Amino acid sequence: MQFSIKAVSPETAKAACVVVGVYQDHTLSPSAKALDQASGGALRQALKGGDLSGKKGSTLLLHRTSTHSARVLLVGLGKDKTLSDKTFLDAVRAGWKALAATGAADALWCLHEVAVTGRDLTWKLRSTTVTIHDVLYRFDQLKSSNDAEPDKLKALALVVDKPQIKTAQTALQQALAEAHGIALTRDLGNLPSNLCTPTYLATTAKNLAKQFKLKVQVLEKKQMEALKMLSLLSVAKGSVQPPKFIILHYQGGAAKQAPVVLVGKGITFDSGGISLKPGEGMDEMKYDMCGAATVLGTLHAIAEMQLKLNVIGVIPTCENMPNGNASKPGDIVTSMSGQTIEILNTDAEGRLILCDALTYVARFKPAAVIDIATLTGACIIALGHVHSGLYSKDEQLADALLHAGKAANDTAWQMPLDDDYQEQLKSNFADMANIGGRPGGSVTAACFLSRFTKEYKWAHLDIAGTAWKSGAAKGATGRPVPLLIEFLKTYKP
Ligand code: BES
Ligand code: MN
Ligand code: ZN
Repeated sequence: MQFSIKAVSPETAKAACVVVGVYQDHTLSPSAKALDQASGGALRQALKGGDLSGKKGSTLLLHRTSTHSARVLLVGLGKDKTLSDKTFLDAVRAGWKALAATGAADALWCLHEVAVTGRDLTWKLRSTTVTIHDVLYRFDQLKSSNDAEPDKLKALALVVDKPQIKTAQTALQQALAEAHGIALTRDLGNLPSNLCTPTYLATTAKNLAKQFKLKVQVLEKKQMEALKMLSLLSVAKGSVQPPKFIILHYQGGAAKQAPVVLVGKGITFDSGGISLKPGEGMDEMKYDMCGAATVLGTLHAIAEMQLKLNVIGVIPTCENMPNGNASKPGDIVTSMSGQTIEILNTDAEGRLILCDALTYVARFKPAAVIDIATLTGACIIALGHVHSGLYSKDEQLADALLHAGKAANDTAWQMPLDDDYQEQLKSNFADMANIGGRPGGSVTAACFLSRFTKEYKWAHLDIAGTAWKSGAAKGATGRPVPLLIEFLKTYKP
């Protein structure tokens, strides 16, 4: 699909289809009005005849209205003249679905001319482009035959007024970069663990580095041993796949400017280890590297956007498997920070690899560190699949992330991080246990991580409920790449 920006009048431009909005009281959007006039009232006639209610999500396809385009697709916008984010996004989805069902090979798209509360043209174009890419996404590279019909629509022109052309082109270019980053994150998530190994993630990082001229470093087991990352290595040792520690530098700002560091959990398969998980749904633990995939997708996007700031992506990655060499419940390890950890459950492995990564990143003197992890089933119990769990003691950082999530339609919800919860991590034999019991399981996991983040501003995103979908629509969502991109785009160091 080719996206473009065009400053044309929809009633005189030629296309296989023009997509315009209509309100429930039959008020026409400006483009719809122009088309109606040019067609001698064809749109009004259809509305009068009761062919379209104008209700949210309703659509009507008109053929051979005597305008220059072969079809006009009307999309219902509901009652309010100023739309909510959700109504706008639903209209985009409904319009796209109806458009894709026609035989049109190209189309003029005008829905972003309608008002959305508190949102500008850049937001509307970005949301339109990212939403359509979301619907278009397929993961069929591992199917030997493809029975899906190829998309008929080849080109979509987003129609704007002449003075808006420059703004619109920048918005589209950034939205496309974002869509490419999201697609990478989804692909990596959906790729099964026999293909998406720690080595594969390292190769992906190296390829990204090549494509965008980034600096990349991949630490091997020996180097991790030298750094005393023994907590991370205790998770890796039950698997035959070698662990990797990936560091990817994007330098878009001045050399002396403190970087934002993104740390992504990269468990390419989480069997639970000796504390083995039940069999049902275990396949979904291939998604336990979605934090890592988020870091790679976000770096892909911001590098393509050429954002003017410094970002370092850090990915501790390994498998959590139960072989004869695996960690056992009760084992005690010394983390890179020097703090000792009693591993009471080998399935609480995400925090064990993240804690060493969080210790490692202090050397970058970061402006902020954000870790992203499919960390706890308890986060799904708390927040379902709607919001990612956000933890931070830095209110400014937390607010910026919450705000970015709303703007990007990729929301997070702030969770508590009070010291009172730290009690639950007490161990009789080590500085701390790696689990805090069932009550507040997502909170105590965040509390565990907080013990390794004393030297910088830190936030933690638990994406266990948002990174992928289960059931018939099983697949990676690409979240929270949109949130992070929006955060970085508006970040003031
Ligand atoms: N990767 C899982 C968390 C997870 C589970 C994410 C299900 C999404 C769906 C994590 O490593 C894990 O196993 N956590 C345990 C922690 C427990 C042992 C304290 C959990 O949530 O059950
Ligand atoms: Mn686990
Ligand atoms: Zn896990």
